[in-house]
Amino acid sequence: MIIAANFKTNMTRAQTAEYYTKVSGFITEKGISSEAMIFPPATAFNTFEGVLTVGAQNAFAVENGAYTGEIGLEQLDEFGIKTILVGHSERRHILGESQELIIEKFNYYKEKGFTIVYCIGEPIEVREEGNEALMNYLDDQFEGIDLEYEKLIIAYEPVWAIGTGVTPSEDDVELIHTALRQKTSRPLLYGGSVKTANAKELLALNNVDGALIGSGALNAEDFCTILSIAENITNNREGK
Ligand code: PGA
Repeated sequence: MIIAANFKTNMTRAQTAEYYTKVSGFITEKGISSEAMIFPPATAFNTFEGVLTVGAQNAFAVENGAYTGEIGLEQLDEFGIKTILVGHSERRHILGESQELIIEKFNYYKEKGFTIVYCIGEPIEVREEGNEALMNYLDDQFEGIDLEYEKLIIAYEPVWAIGTGVTPSEDDVELIHTALRQKTSRPLLYGGSVKTANAKELLALNNVDGALIGSGALNAEDFCTILSIAENITNNREGK
């Protein structure tokens, strides 16, 4: 499984370093087989030593240049970062990122060989229109995206479930992930209010290959708990 924590605009450099050490130590000690990733704010990037992958929440599709407030490939390279989130709903809806810009970022970082966690998800009004409208909306978010890129990970995150404590029903998550499975063979993460209390149910669903977690993973112990839950599910699936 793949378990990823998106810190968003939380955590300082010092807090991130402490978190990294705790979680990386836990993974080694317990022999966790899942791939664990964190996406700290760019101010907390560092050359960490351990087994936890560090990715960028965002970067512009350039090596460097005159793009005030942005970072590019050069700034990521300095820290050996080779993983990036693209298309997160907060960037689409709060920062106003268009599908064109998202495609540009996707293609640029794909060409640079990055692991890309590509986020999709519908707003509540689309969900209320029913399954067909929902799948059409997700299809539009796949426009221009190479769904068989070998380093692609998809995160399905309903906008109305992010940071709200509300999740779709387990049946709905399974239904959507099963529909997404027809479109790509790449790993499918679920995101939106995943926490220690619901991780077992959500991660055990068919075609759920992991989770992208925001507030529910801000605490290192909670992230470790979710990694243990994922480990048990993987072991059960493999009949261990
Ligand atoms: P949440 O955020 O877990 O706080 O709902 C998930 C995300 O935005 O990736």
